Amino acid sequence: MSKSKIDRKTLKPATRFASAAREFNEHGMVNPAVYRASTITFPDVETLKSGKQSYIYGRRGTPTSLAIETAIAELEGGYKCKVAPSGQAAISVALLSFLSPGDHLLVTDTVYGPVRELCRTVLDRMAIETTYYDPLIGEKLRTLMKPNTKVVYLESPGSQTMEIQDVPLLTKIAHEAGALVLIDNTWSGGHFFKAFEHGCDISVQAATKYITGHSDCMFGSIVCTEKTWGPLKATYEAMGMFAGPDDMYLALRGLRTLDVRMERHMKSAITIAEWLRGRDEVETVLHPALSNAPGHEIWKRDFKGSSGLFSIILKPTSEKAVAAMLDDMQLFAMGYSWGGFESLMIPFNPIRTATTWQANGQALRLQIGLEHPDDLIADLEQGLKRLKNNP
Ligand SMILES: Cc1ncc(COP(=O)(O)O)c(C=O)c1O
Repeated sequence: MSKSKIDRKTLKPATRFASAAREFNEHGMVNPAVYRASTITFPDVETLKSGKQSYIYGRRGTPTSLAIETAIAELEGGYKCKVAPSGQAAISVALLSFLSPGDHLLVTDTVYGPVRELCRTVLDRMAIETTYYDPLIGEKLRTLMKPNTKVVYLESPGSQTMEIQDVPLLTKIAHEAGALVLIDNTWSGGHFFKAFEHGCDISVQAATKYITGHSDCMFGSIVCTEKTWGPLKATYEAMGMFAGPDDMYLALRGLRTLDVRMERHMKSAITIAEWLRGRDEVETVLHPALSNAPGHEIWKRDFKGSSGLFSIILKPTSEKAVAAMLDDMQLFAMGYSWGGFESLMIPFNPIRTATTWQANGQALRLQIGLEHPDDLIADLEQGLKRLKNNP
């Protein structure tokens, strides 16, 4: 029986996430199979030579990889997607797809730290020059554009310090100068910020975070426009990039519940950020969804919501006090990640080279998980008490 097809663009995000890429399922199963494929055989020479068989070699795609790639491309509203074994790998292959020796790259000063290593080592060795810029540069980006600037790299909000970039303005300036715009869209999960609607050409995510959502899998995604798809695909395939089938499966399973998880992360994080804003021990709360917070107006204009990650700056206090607070947290663990169901809190001192980071007190990054916010607030209250009692 042939069924009529719904126009997926009319569906709400929750429906889309729950129903994306079902065409790759078989035998009536609700989930796709985890294809552990290297060799894929051909029934006869004619098929082999025709190049028309859907699947030809494990690394070149399986129903499992196509399912997650199709679902993430739809999530981000892009043309097509490729997946990678980590967010860092996704960023690397994306940059290498659009940069050649002699090119110039502009990178936001708030970029995820290890991307600086990629620029300092691999890209530098390939004679690709990197300039870091103030994430809030606005119109002045024009002054940094060179004839050989090929890519402008954005991350909004910025890692740790949460600056919101004026993406439509920056993409306009980049495009006028002939450069492409790549954005690290991990904070929004691709759900709360639609990179392509704001002019970006490539959107990468550490799908390790919100898409997989359960802290059990490293994964990356690169979504392109029709124009950027060709070079990305060619470089991705030439570099032998792919991802593990179990991780693809876990990412798709995570994506099914992205809408409900993100709603909960958003609500709890705002509740807790507002509570922290009223505490004496806290100097500043860096959460773009709070009114009067830095970047709030642009966030309100461009984003559809906020995730569970934000930062605070404590009033000046001793290292001993901060350790007393962090060492005995009961629900907030310390870990260099975010986007999972569990809450995390970690101290940080950001690396900045184009701007200066000024804070009198210790900065802490919080990932608000799916626990009940009342329990998290109680844990924070005890922590702030220890901070105060151990000067
Ligand atoms: C903003 C951001 N981008 C990219 C990455 C890299 O992702 P992965 O750890 O999956 O390599 C991270 C990891 O923490 C991140 O926070």
